Amino acid sequence: MMQQYHRAKKDAGDALLFFRMGDFYELFHEDAKVAARVLGITLTARSKGEAAIPMAGVPVKAYKGYLQTLIKRGHRVAICDQVQDPAAAKGLVERRVTRIVTAGTVFEDDLLERGASNFLLAVAPAGEQLGLAWIEISTGAFRLCALPAARLADEVSRLDPAEVLLPESLLNGESSLVDAVRRATPAPLVPGPEWTFDRHNATEALLAGLGVASLQGFGLEHDHPAVPAAGAVLAYALHNQRGEAIPVSAIGLHDPDARAGLDRATRSCLEILSTQRSGQREGSLLSVMDATGTAMGARLLRDWLVAPLIDTDAINRRQGAVAELVSRSDVHAALNDLLDGLPDIERVASRLLAGRGSPRDLAGLRTGLRAVPALAQALAACAAPPLLEAAARLVPQPELLALLERALAEPPAATLVDGGVIADGWNPPLDELRALRTNGADAIARFQAEESARHRIPGLKVGFNRVFGYYIEISHAQAAQAGGVPESYTRKQTLTSAERYITPELKQLEASILTAEERGRSLEAQLFGELRAQAAAQGEAVRELAREIARVDVLAGFASVARDRGWTRPAVDDGDAIDIKDGRHPVLDALLPAGQFVPNDVLLDHDSARLVLITGPNMAGKSTYIRQVALLVLLAQVGSFVPASEAHIGVVDRIFTRVGAADDLSGGQSTFMVEMTETASILNGASKRSLVILDEVGRGTSTWDGLSLAWAISEYLYRKLGARTLFATHYHELVALAEEFPAVRNVNVSVREWGDDIAFLHKIVPGGTDRSYGLHVARLAGLPAPVIERARRILGDLEQRSPDLRPGSKETVAGGESPEPCQESLFPRPAAAILHELSELEPDLISPMDALLLLREYCQRLETPGEP
Ligand SMILES: Nc1ncnc2c1ncn2[C@@H]1O[C@H](COP(=O)(O)OP(=O)(O)OP(=O)(O)O)[C@@H](O)[C@H]1O
Ligand SMILES: [Mg+2]
Repeated sequence: MMQQYHRAKKDAGDALLFFRMGDFYELFHEDAKVAARVLGITLTARSKGEAAIPMAGVPVKAYKGYLQTLIKRGHRVAICDQVQDPAAAKGLVERRVTRIVTAGTVFEDDLLERGASNFLLAVAPAGEQLGLAWIEISTGAFRLCALPAARLADEVSRLDPAEVLLPESLLNGESSLVDAVRRATPAPLVPGPEWTFDRHNATEALLAGLGVASLQGFGLEHDHPAVPAAGAVLAYALHNQRGEAIPVSAIGLHDPDARAGLDRATRSCLEILSTQRSGQREGSLLSVMDATGTAMGARLLRDWLVAPLIDTDAINRRQGAVAELVSRSDVHAALNDLLDGLPDIERVASRLLAGRGSPRDLAGLRTGLRAVPALAQALAACAAPPLLEAAARLVPQPELLALLERALAEPPAATLVDGGVIADGWNPPLDELRALRTNGADAIARFQAEESARHRIPGLKVGFNRVFGYYIEISHAQAAQAGGVPESYTRKQTLTSAERYITPELKQLEASILTAEERGRSLEAQLFGELRAQAAAQGEAVRELAREIARVDVLAGFASVARDRGWTRPAVDDGDAIDIKDGRHPVLDALLPAGQFVPNDVLLDHDSARLVLITGPNMAGKSTYIRQVALLVLLAQVGSFVPASEAHIGVVDRIFTRVGAADDLSGGQSTFMVEMTETASILNGASKRSLVILDEVGRGTSTWDGLSLAWAISEYLYRKLGARTLFATHYHELVALAEEFPAVRNVNVSVREWGDDIAFLHKIVPGGTDRSYGLHVARLAGLPAPVIERARRILGDLEQRSPDLRPGSKETVAGGESPEPCQESLFPRPAAAILHELSELEPDLISPMDALLLLREYCQRLETPGEP
C-alpha cells in the first residue's frame, strides 16, 4: 500500500496528501508533521522501530474543517480517494488523487466566504507590461488585463486574491515583481510550470478550455499581453480539478483605467472592508453600506467599494437608480422583499455547470427563479436606465422553473442517500416503488399482528438489523408461557433474554420490500441526475440572472442606506472642486448616538484650496475629518448617496491616504521606512486630479527630520503635482505655508477651554493653531497626576528655552521659491551650509525620492553637531 501512497504523493507534488484509508484521511512523513503542527492533531507512527513512519489522520466525516484551516494557511491539499468499490476490489483498492484543493480553487459553499469573491490570480511579465488574469471557480468569472508594472500592486490589492500563480522561474529567483505582489497581498504565491506561461501553450489551453476556435469572440487579440497569464491560470485550475469540469465559458477584458485607484495602504487606512486595528468587518465602511439581501449582491458591493468609477456618466447612472428607489418606496420595498434571503444562484449555477450540485442547490435555484418575474415586474415600473435595463435582462425561465416545481420535492432531502428528493407524482414507476415501500411497512405490521395472534404470543415482535434483515423476536418468558415456538421458525440468534427467528414467509416479504427500496433509490438518483443536467443546460442563463440580481441588490442597498440615514445625492462632475456642506463620517456617524456626530464642511479646489492643513489638539477629530472627506468622495464615485446636507464632487482619479507611524510589523519593515515608502509612492503616482490625505506624515522620526520632510512633501504636492491635499499635522510650523502659497488653507479643530479643562467641539474652523493640549489628553487618559504635573513643568521650561518657531515670527523655517538666508543664531553651523546648498539646487530636476534622500541627509547633518 505504501507503494500506492508514493505514487499518489508523486502525483500530488508539494501538496499535502490526504490518503484515504477507511474512515480516515491519513497523512504520512513530512505531511503528517505539518498537519499535526497546523491542525493540532496527534502525530502517531505507522509500524514500529526502524521502519516507523510519522502519521496523522483526520476523520473523513469532518475533514472539511481541517481542509479549510490548511488552505487558509496557504497549504495545498491533494485528496487521494478510493476510486473503486472496496467490495469489488481484488486485493488492494485502487486509489487516485481526485482533486487538489487550494485557497484559489475551492468551490464548496462551506469552504467559501458568503459575501466575498475568491480569486485565483496569475501574473506574468509581457514585454514592457504585465499580464494579469484571474478566475473564480465558484462563479465562473474569468478576466484579464494588461498593466504597467507601477500599477501592479494597486490592482492586486484591489482583487484581494486567495492565491497567486507566478512563473516558477520568477518565484524562485529575485524579482521586484514578486516583491510587489507579496507586499500587495497576504495570499499564498505558488509557482506555475514555465511551459504553461508559454504564449503558444497558453493560447491552446484557453481555446480548449473555453471551447472556442478563436479568442476574438471575447474581444481579445491572440497577442494580448495577458494571454499567457490567462492560459496558465486556467491550466492550473484544471490541473487541480483533475479533469472535472470547471464552470468557465467566457473571458472578459478588464479596463483598469475605468476605475479610481486605491492602493493597499489607502484601503486599509480608510477601513473600507475591515478595520485597521482588529481586521474585522464590523466598523468598516462595508459594514455600514451592506444593506444587500443576497450573497451575490454582497460580493458585488465589495467589488464596487474598492473600485470607484471615474466616468461621470456611469456614476450618474447609478445615482439615478438609487435616487429613484429612494423616492419610490413602494418599488423599493417590493424589491427588498424579493431580494431578502434570495439564494446564491450564481454559485449554484457554477456548481451545476461543473456537473455538481446537490438537491438543495436545485431547491435554491427554484426559489431564485420563482422571484425573477416579480423582480422584473417591479423594475419595469421604474424610469432610471439601470433599473429598466435590469427589468429587460431578468428573463424568467418558465420551462426550467416548471420542471423544478413539478419534479423536485418541497423541500428535497439534503442528500440522495435518504431518498425524498424527487417529488411525488413526477415519475409513476418511482411512485409505485414508494407505495411498495410504504405498503411494505404496513405489511410487516400486519405480519406481526397475525403471527402473534396465531401462536398466542402477545409479545412477539418483528425487528430489522443489517446482519440478517427482518426477524421475529420472542422473549424466553413468552416462549415458555406459549409452550415453545412454532416449528416453522428457524432460530437465528440467541440473546440473554430472547431468541430471534426467521420464517420463509418473512424472508419473502423482506425481499419485496428491500428491492423496492433499492430500486426506488437508484431510480431516484437517475431522475435527479437528469433533472440536474436539464438545469445545468440553462447554467449560463442562470448566471446572467444572478449578475443582474446582484446589481439591483447593490443599488437597492444604497437606496436603503441613503433613506435610513438621511443621505443626499452628491453632484458629480469633471471639475476640480470638492465642496461638501455638513459632511459626516459614514461609519462614526452610524456608531454614535443620533445627532452626536458634529458635521463639518470642506472645500478643496485647485485655485483657492489646493492644500488644506488641519492643525489642532489631540483627540479633536483631525483624523476623522480628513478620512471623512476621502470616504465621501469614494462613496460619491461608487454611485452612492453621501452623509452631507449638500455635496459637490469633482471626480478624482485616485485616492491616496497615508498615516504616519502606522506599524507594519507583519510586513517586516520599520515604521518610518513604511511611512516613507508609502509617501514615495504618492509623490510618484499622484496627479492633478488625485485626492491626497496625509495624517501626521513625518511623525515616525525625530521632530526636525519629520518637520522638514512634511514641509518638503507638502510643497512638492502643491507645486509639482497639484493634487488636492488634506494634511492633518501636529507640526504647527507648517501653517506658514499659507504665507508662501495662495491656495494653501489653514483650518483647525476648535476646543473650548476653561481653566485646566478642555471640551472637544469637533468643529472645523478657519485658521491655524499652535497648541496641542497633549497634556490635557494625557490627563483624560488617566496618566498619574504627578507625571502630568512634572510634564507641565518640563513643558514650561522647554518653551522658554527653545527658539521660537511659531508661524508669523521672522524665524520660521524658510520654504518656497526663494529660501531666505536665516539667522545664524537660530540655525547652527551645518544649517548655513545646507541653506547654501539648497539655494543652488534645481528642485525641478531631481526626483521626489532623491529629494527625500537629500532631505534625510540634511537632517542627519543637522543632528550631528560639529560637522561642517
Ligand atoms: N465630528 C465629530 N463629531 C463627534 N465626535 C468626533 C468627531 N470627530 C472626532 N470625534 C471623536 O473624537 C475622537 C478622536 O478623533 P480623531 O482621532 O479624529 O482625533 P485627532 O485630532 O486625529 O487626534 P490625534 O491628534 O490624537 O490623532 C474620535 O474617536 C471620535 O470619537
Ligand atoms: Mg489623528
